[in-house]
Amino acid sequence: MRSLAHATRDNEKLIQQAKHWLESAGCVAAVTGAGVSAESGVPTFRGKDGLWRNFRAEELATPAAFQRDPLTVWQWYQWRRGLIAECQPNAGHFALARLEQKKLDFLLITQNVDGLHEQAGSGKVCRLHGSIWVVRCISCGKEQEEREAFAELPPRCTCGGLLRPGVVWFGENLPAEAWREAEAFMLRCEVLLVIGTSSAVYPAASLAPLARQCGARVVEINLELTGLSAQADAVLAGRSGEILEELIG
Ligand code: OAD
Repeated sequence: MRSLAHATRDNEKLIQQAKHWLESAGCVAAVTGAGVSAESGVPTFRGKDGLWRNFRAEELATPAAFQRDPLTVWQWYQWRRGLIAECQPNAGHFALARLEQKKLDFLLITQNVDGLHEQAGSGKVCRLHGSIWVVRCISCGKEQEEREAFAELPPRCTCGGLLRPGVVWFGENLPAEAWREAEAFMLRCEVLLVIGTSSAVYPAASLAPLARQCGARVVEINLELTGLSAQADAVLAGRSGEILEELIG
């Protein structure tokens, strides 16, 4: 059996290797998931304390669930909004904002809806799953940012229609423009960081294999192995905040 010291030394070597790839690359992309915000206190979806352990996605995060019971869906989103409002960006979010400054050609793609990347100073974030701070009227289609807790649930638009959270639910398409941009970047990035995602949800999970096919080095940062790990050029095991600080400086 390999010792912990061995594993730690291997991880250190891999971090140095990935650092070298990152420094020599002109075009870099990062795909982030819930694990990046875990150190800020935002719950992830899968795994030991994941939201989908205690809540049923089909009752809370599908268009059918909203049609059936908008109040229950909104109570869950209002709870999550309150929880996220108390959270601050962590070292990983800040490191990625610095990476954007260092690289001329960089795209940060996130599945997260919490807005912590933007709060950490990332100027351009390609949001594949929308934002929990945006609401959209299901009647007139008007979209607006709303950070305050709603006094009444479910909230309504000035036109009288029901407002829904501006996030992508299961069974819905990703925002077309964001997806196009993310996919196009995979064709030309030289290094792709895949951070804190179980790589279980498609189509987001198809980005890394596509980048790899097109010649990018894929570097995964995660606490555990995922469905992507076997295809990654380097798997850096550990907390994303700590690893990203070391990798990016
Ligand atoms: P998941 O909850 O599926 O996965 C989180 C990943 O982060 C797991 O692989 C953990 O091992 C890892 N992780 C946890 N803490 C970490 C840390 N401190 N450092 C590094 N890694 C850590 O979250 P996502 O992959 O983002 O979709 O989930 C994808 C989508 O599924 C979400 O966007 C959401 C969900 O249903 C929608 O809401 C549409």
